[in-house]
Amino acid sequence: MDYKQVPERWTTRVRKPSRKGSMADVPQDIVTEIASLERLFTVDQAKLKEITEQFIVELKDGLEGNGNIPMNPSWVMNMPDGEETGRFLALDMGGTNLRVCEIELVDEKGEFDIIQSKYRMPEELKSGNAEELWDYTADCIEQFIEYHHEDDKDNLETLPLGFTFSYPATQEYIDHGVLQRWTKGWAVEGVEGHDVVPQLEKALRERKLPVTIAALVNDTTGTLVASAYTDTAMRLGCIFGTGCNGAYVEHCGNIPKLKHMNLPDDMEMLINCEYGAFNSKGTTPVLPKTPYDVMIDETSPRPGQQAYEKMISGLYLGEIFRLTMLDLHDNKKLIFQNQDLAQFRTPFCLDSSFLSFIEEDPFENLSETQDMFNDKFQVKANKAELELCRRLAELIGTRAARLCACGIAAICKMKGFDSCHVGADGSVFNKYPHFKQRIAKALRDILDWTGRKDPIVLSASEDGSGVGAALIAALTVKRIKEGNTNGIQDVKKFGL
Ligand code: BGC
Repeated sequence: MDYKQVPERWTTRVRKPSRKGSMADVPQDIVTEIASLERLFTVDQAKLKEITEQFIVELKDGLEGNGNIPMNPSWVMNMPDGEETGRFLALDMGGTNLRVCEIELVDEKGEFDIIQSKYRMPEELKSGNAEELWDYTADCIEQFIEYHHEDDKDNLETLPLGFTFSYPATQEYIDHGVLQRWTKGWAVEGVEGHDVVPQLEKALRERKLPVTIAALVNDTTGTLVASAYTDTAMRLGCIFGTGCNGAYVEHCGNIPKLKHMNLPDDMEMLINCEYGAFNSKGTTPVLPKTPYDVMIDETSPRPGQQAYEKMISGLYLGEIFRLTMLDLHDNKKLIFQNQDLAQFRTPFCLDSSFLSFIEEDPFENLSETQDMFNDKFQVKANKAELELCRRLAELIGTRAARLCACGIAAICKMKGFDSCHVGADGSVFNKYPHFKQRIAKALRDILDWTGRKDPIVLSASEDGSGVGAALIAALTVKRIKEGNTNGIQDVKKFGL
């Protein structure tokens, strides 16, 4: 296999304000179409509130063990206090890259040292078989150890690993997780319905690597724990990236599906909601789906699943745009007349960065957007078509942000959090223009805030899949030492 270490790149960019746009000189039929797209994609305050109420119903159903939202107990049972110490590995199996980190939680409160390497995830692995996936993953960990521990690899102590696996997994224990279903376009055979921990452990054992899987972690729980490490007001961890999801702290007494375990009612448990599945098949439909959302769902490998995620996450935003534009060309004969759109017809050929780019085009005449259409799709867009593109990108991006706010508002309302911090991560949150502000505006609409200062505030999280996963491994070791071995399958392997 081809191992390419991806060089680290740290970039900072100053965001230019999006232009205002002008409809002067735009023909009437396009102006009328823009108005109709506005009606189709706008989610008003009343609708946001209705969605949030249904969200609460489905979150509660999930805690009962019913409905669509899995509400997976994560067996992360405490939050960090900044005093955690020790050396840990973290493995982040994200969509594009695989990242291995070694994290030293040092004596200074809330501080850590990190070394990390990224390895490109070959596209074919995502639709290959389980053995190839775990072999590649273990090979990357081996490479990491050889590269960073050239001198001491033969007498390296066994390192506890926090494995960030950002897919819905049923966890009966923290060092266990049965994949419920692949999301985000993954389809590796032989993993669904299986515990992923022994699958990776076998590959690690075959390579005799000094690593033990201490915790299987979702990126949202990692985000929450990493953010809480430095901010005690953190209550939620959210991801708005290729997929979307959230995690929060629940009391065991509020988790009816764990009643049989007789855990103390006030014991804490982080819940990985997997709320990308909100309002999927079988529930009262409240999501304002357009015909384009319906097409995406029907042609997806998993129709009826991840209904909410399919309307808001980065994997789908470009596709919603593409399908809308094709409809305006093929059926309504409104745009790009007499042009060949062959290059534009490949499903998923635009990702959400395309919409960010359009929204960020700083020129009044949208010349950067025009060049991009020309270069990428050999399509010549005129002034009116460019104005329509810009408005459509804005509508899709705004709708996504407003719908994202419903999940946050629902958890806060259900838990009675009047004020708190929400740690957020993911490419859409970090890179899509105005995303954060649009979520904040929608939260104001849903929760009827009128004051000058918002009581619930989103902020970019610390590195959840790296530092967060290491902290969760540390918290697991800590609670074993304290005698709380609930939800730990194999205490002996920790060698404590
Ligand atoms: C997965 C979640 C994950 C989210 C964000 C969803 O598709 O099911 O486990 O947290 O994407 O990465």
